[in-house]
Amino acid sequence: MVVGQLGQSLDGRIATPTGHSHYINGPAGLNHLHRLRALVDAVVVGVGTALADDPQLTVRRVAGPHPARVVIDPGGRLPAGARMFAPDGVRRLVLTAGSRPPLPDGIEVLEVPRTGGQLAPAAILVALAAQGFRRVLIEGGANTVSRFLSAGCLDRLHIVVAPIVLGSGPSGLALPPIERADQALRVPISVHRLGDEVLFDCDLSAQRVLVGRANKSR
Ligand SMILES: NC(=O)c1ccc[n+]([C@@H]2O[C@H](COP(=O)([O-])OP(=O)(O)OC[C@H]3O[C@@H](n4cnc5c(N)ncnc54)[C@H](OP(=O)(O)O)[C@@H]3O)[C@@H](O)[C@H]2O)c1
Repeated sequence: MVVGQLGQSLDGRIATPTGHSHYINGPAGLNHLHRLRALVDAVVVGVGTALADDPQLTVRRVAGPHPARVVIDPGGRLPAGARMFAPDGVRRLVLTAGSRPPLPDGIEVLEVPRTGGQLAPAAILVALAAQGFRRVLIEGGANTVSRFLSAGCLDRLHIVVAPIVLGSGPSGLALPPIERADQALRVPISVHRLGDEVLFDCDLSAQRVLVGRANKSR
């Protein structure tokens, strides 16, 4: 089960032009994010988010276990002092495309081959499944979630829309261009109020591409 999540403004933006995104979502949206973390085996972020936000990726706002923390960092850009690497007994993993600067003991480095200029999301999920991680949260940012969506590697997508207008800054999902609106990806949703925010729980099972070990387990 792979869930992607993004918190965005009414105008579909996930950060300001400076990359600031704390806190687009209010308490209820953040509680939901921590609940998602508590329900998965591993939480995955792209290196852009790890560098911009230096997140802890722990469960603090609700009761529940901390998931393993995973960063997709093909070029070895994340420094060893990143907060997600803190030694707190939780597994910490770096997905890389090759050699990278050394990291402290205890941080696991998994090499995933580059395919078509990226680490294929399906190959990432196979690598994570081989480590025992079967419930995975793709927490951000937009670049990373978009790659998983584009590759058909999400079962669910949770978009939490906050009642704010940022007016500028990076937008959320980005997929290959289409010509006509009727070619848009249209998905079944359920809608939930989270305080003054709205959660769109998108069911992507019809688009889901099943691969490797993930396929066998289902
Ligand atoms: N509102 C929200 O919900 C939310 C959530 C998270 C983050 N954010 C904000 O979003 C911004 C960062 O997001 P972002 O979209 O710029 O970056 P991102 O998705 O966090 O990271 C993108 C980078 O991760 C690496 N990467 C991810 N998936 C890969 C793959 N399959 N194959 C190869 N490389 C992969 C690449 O690194 P290389 O460039 O090194 O190749 C890529 O450039 C920050 O401003 C943060 O505050 C908002």
